[in-house]
Amino acid sequence: LDVPHGLGHAVGCAREAVGDAPFAVLLPDDIMGDSSLLSQMADVAEASGGSAVGLKRVAPSEVSSYGVVETIGDVDADGVVRVRSMVEKPAMDEAPSDLILIGRYVLAADAFEAIDRVTPGANGEIQLTDALKMLANDAPFHGVVSKISRYDTGTPFGWLTAVVDLALNDDQIGAQFRAWLQ
Ligand code: G1P
Repeated sequence: LDVPHGLGHAVGCAREAVGDAPFAVLLPDDIMGDSSLLSQMADVAEASGGSAVGLKRVAPSEVSSYGVVETIGDVDADGVVRVRSMVEKPAMDEAPSDLILIGRYVLAADAFEAIDRVTPGANGEIQLTDALKMLANDAPFHGVVSKISRYDTGTPFGWLTAVVDLALNDDQIGAQFRAWLQ
């Protein structure tokens, strides 16, 4: 019987379907305002021949709910930064930065070999973050800091703001919903 062992394990299950090509991972509980970030990440990954992850700057109190990256150098004008390492759900005072992994990844096919080598980490799960940390050691690895809106629907507050914002901007029910809210 196969049972879930974490995000890294889940991504590893797609190995046969993906084959030997770069691929994107989109975590559906992270809702992004549009697809521009993913498209920029794909360009960065292709240009470097490596991998690229979506990042967002958050308040220090939020970092321990996420994967957090350690960067090399500064974030450039396009929001691109080199990534040295990363850690899953660190304590606030052990986090290497305030840049978290949002649920968007463009990964080289080598990610699957790295996933195979990962042992259970945070929460006893096979963490994708731990596999990517190995990948960042051996190959080009960049982050792209997002400027677009993002909702983490895995929290009650994030879910509520997603529903309200998306409904307000919806062509069909936006006006009616705004009037009701007011
Ligand atoms: C997962 C990843 C984490 C990432 C987060 C984004 O965590 O493991 O690195 O920052 O998604 O939402 P989870 O939401 O499964 O706790």
